[in-house]
Amino acid sequence: MKHLRAAAAVMASGALLFTGAVTSAQAAPADAYHHPKGAPLKALAARDHLFFGTAVNMDALAEDSTYRRITAREFNSLTAENVMKWETLQPQRGVYDFTQGDALVDFARSHGQAVRGHTLLWHNQLPGWLTSGVADGSISKDELRQILREHVTTVAKHYKGKIYQWDVVNEVFEEDGSYRQSLWYQQLGPSYIADTFRWARQADPHAKLYVNDYNVEGVNAKSTAYYNLVKELRSQGVRVDGFGIQGHLSTMYGFPGDIPANLKRFADLGVESSFTEVDVRGEMPMDETKLDRQAAYFSGMLDACLNQRKCTSFTIWGFADQYSWVPGVFPGEGSANIYDENYAPKPSYWAVREELAEGRFN
Ligand code: XIL
Repeated sequence: MKHLRAAAAVMASGALLFTGAVTSAQAAPADAYHHPKGAPLKALAARDHLFFGTAVNMDALAEDSTYRRITAREFNSLTAENVMKWETLQPQRGVYDFTQGDALVDFARSHGQAVRGHTLLWHNQLPGWLTSGVADGSISKDELRQILREHVTTVAKHYKGKIYQWDVVNEVFEEDGSYRQSLWYQQLGPSYIADTFRWARQADPHAKLYVNDYNVEGVNAKSTAYYNLVKELRSQGVRVDGFGIQGHLSTMYGFPGDIPANLKRFADLGVESSFTEVDVRGEMPMDETKLDRQAAYFSGMLDACLNQRKCTSFTIWGFADQYSWVPGVFPGEGSANIYDENYAPKPSYWAVREELAEGRFN
């Protein structure tokens, strides 16, 4: 709660009143991870039936033993950062490669961890044969619909019973709440969304099926589009189980203020929610002020989740800065994760730990 108040103060004034985490970070030895005191983060989360997850970079998992150790120790939910996307799973038309995705599922199983599926449909990281085939007209609309159906069915069946939540559709709205003009929308029209949910449900009836997007933390045009979509699909007999909030924030912008109200309106619809890709980037170089603000943003999102019974999972998009996607995509920004590039816990690590220790409804 202390951190929520700190986050609120940051929001209100831009001032930095966030002190608790800083003190503990300064007190912590740089190799704190190697001599962890206290319970792993996942043990704190599990007391509240919260899945506390990370995205996993499969190259790092193969090559970096510290990365592997932290992945195993601190999290009870894993998401494939890339290897369950179309370009990896279906590199050639009709040819599936589950090697890397299966390796992630195996790692999770052997460490007693759950797996979030990401993602059955997106407009990015599609295989070249698909995008070029649509562009040059060699793949017709009817064929594209069949390709989508086959991919969703094949992948969801392959992982049936091994995935507790699937991001079924990812990033299907624009900021103003209109449909994203993706290849899927342009070729198939809005009905592709209902179709994708139906096919996923048929293939794996027990997984929780999610919509997922960024910039939908608070109540705004985009999150309202999802709220209306969930209601509309329901009226067509298509059930959506969960609302996924990616949670990619930046310390350059204010903290979204109305997250609790947003989570509540989905909960009132009977829909669970999750934070699915949380990181908080900053303009480089970072300084103490920005690191504290970052910690407050992590706390603010986690606190909102812990205070909503229907918020079931909280996943950070990687945990170590040297593997973050941020510097490659947001020029001049970085340092978005809870450990620095030498695995020293940052103020955001201590803030997350403290929120989890406080638990739900505190
Ligand atoms: C990102 C990965 O982190 C990068 O490694 C990859 O190059 C591009 O995709 N929203 C999503 C994620 O839903 O799949 C994205 O992941 C980040 C933004």
